[in-house]
Amino acid sequence: MREWSQRELVAQAMDARERAYAPYSGYRVGATLLGKSGRVYTGCNVENAVYPLCTCAERVAVVKAVSEGERGFVALAIVTENGGAPCGSCRQVLREFGEGIVVLIADATGDYRETTVAELLPDSFSAADLD
Ligand code: THU
Repeated sequence: MREWSQRELVAQAMDARERAYAPYSGYRVGATLLGKSGRVYTGCNVENAVYPLCTCAERVAVVKAVSEGERGFVALAIVTENGGAPCGSCRQVLREFGEGIVVLIADATGDYRETTVAELLPDSFSAADLD
């Protein structure tokens, strides 16, 4: 895979955030997931009048990618108004596909910090525990 740009991945997540459907919380989230193929999958949160059915932006991106045949990931970027971190459920969903995935956590201005799935979800449960 050719070199990738952290800033570009964050910028694409800012665009994806524009498509957030968040009429209930008003908290708009955008995500981008870079596959090992070089393809980028976007996601935004999609809320529902039945509140528990709200879907997080990160999981939208993961489901899109896996359903398109991609299972190896390099990085995920998430953009929110205030630079909020991925929720626990999304951390576990990302963990399924690797501890080494780089996670860029950005605010609405594009400022971001870099971490990894392993740092966000230490001592995690995974497929290895099922052997
Ligand atoms: N949300 C995400 O999209 N990702 C997260 O990691 C945290 C929360 C969404 C879900 C809901 O639509 C809104 O943010 C408020 O919780």
